[in-house]
Amino acid sequence: MSVSRRRFIETLGVGGAALGATGAATAGIFSAPIISARGRESLYAFQGVADRRADRKLAAAPGIVRIDSNENPVGPGKRALDAIRGHLDECNRYPVLGEDDVIDTIARLQGVKPENVILGCGSGELLRAADQAFTSKQAAYIGAGPTFEAPGDFAKFLGVEVKLVPVDAKLGLDLGAMGAAARGAGLVFLCNPNNPTATVHSKADVTSFIESLNRVSPETTILVDEAYFEYVEHADYGTMIPMAIANPRVVVLRTFSKVYGMAGLRLGYAVGRPETLARMKQWVMGSNVTQLTLVAATAALEDSSHITEEVKRNHEVKAFTRKFFADAGFAMSTGDANFMMVDLKQPAAAFKKLALGKGIAIGRAFPPLTNHARITFGTMKEMKKAVGVFKELLAEPTRAAGQ
Ligand SMILES: Cc1ncc(COP(=O)(O)O)c(C=O)c1O
Repeated sequence: MSVSRRRFIETLGVGGAALGATGAATAGIFSAPIISARGRESLYAFQGVADRRADRKLAAAPGIVRIDSNENPVGPGKRALDAIRGHLDECNRYPVLGEDDVIDTIARLQGVKPENVILGCGSGELLRAADQAFTSKQAAYIGAGPTFEAPGDFAKFLGVEVKLVPVDAKLGLDLGAMGAAARGAGLVFLCNPNNPTATVHSKADVTSFIESLNRVSPETTILVDEAYFEYVEHADYGTMIPMAIANPRVVVLRTFSKVYGMAGLRLGYAVGRPETLARMKQWVMGSNVTQLTLVAATAALEDSSHITEEVKRNHEVKAFTRKFFADAGFAMSTGDANFMMVDLKQPAAAFKKLALGKGIAIGRAFPPLTNHARITFGTMKEMKKAVGVFKELLAEPTRAAGQ
């Protein structure tokens, strides 16, 4: 080893042996990926990020109907966009005041205190922070199969045991089986509505799931991801925010990437007790959200009529799209979100390729549900076009199945 390389390693405070094969364990599961440049590559490869990015790039090509990533096709409202324009000349400053404004506004609207809220560069950053805070080699990660994959993939990368409990026949979370699997675990990822299945569980069911788990496994934290909260139509659905304020083992996550139409601006937040959030905050980067995003979010939060309109728009498009599949004889999940899952009765991956060839980018298959495709609700105009393509392709199932 060259002298300069050894010096570099010493500067990091990790012995040379820590870079060897056994070194990852010696250095601890969190420090190993950080000190290794190749670790970063393997992190991306491990999570399939390269593939998903390539997929998104295809969907982003001009003229393609993008109904693959559960984005809001309309985008932020005028007030949010005006806020961005009005603060362009503040880009030279670090975003200190903007953070306080957003946190105060969220706290006021959610009926909590500012100390109950932390921000993330997208809720994705907070999901990683939760993995780092609550899981370890001794404390497993529990999720559903399938669910939003990023936190489970990251937990695996950290060397944590990941248990994914299959969804039930109606594509809902199997809360009983998840509870049983979660005894002694570090973190349960409870996505409600669940991405990709767009199924929901009532407030009463989630409450009793948490209470039972607290009794048998008091060390386990439950993260309830409510990314699609505003879109839910199910009458018995409700937020777990009050529980997160009362219970140190519960955290609720929200994002501005969905109903607020700000996926490209990157902002999410976690609500919980200060001592719980403090464990996550150690893993969150300082100044992690841009000033323009912060001012846009504050304006968006105050613009409730834009959210009401977006929810109404989504419900109308959902009804139109569901009618097409119902009339054509295809089973769907309840679609309590801005997307749903459809059983195409043929491999979804092959169907996705054919649809893309005709200008429609739909979501991928989520194993173990290989015949189900996740379809986001775009604008009405986009869905009319998409439905035309689906109709054509579904009339030739053997071609899509590649037989
Ligand atoms: C359930 C769920 N949680 C979190 C995220 C991440 O969202 P973001 O990082 O954009 O806030 C997504 C994105 O699709 C999601 O579906």
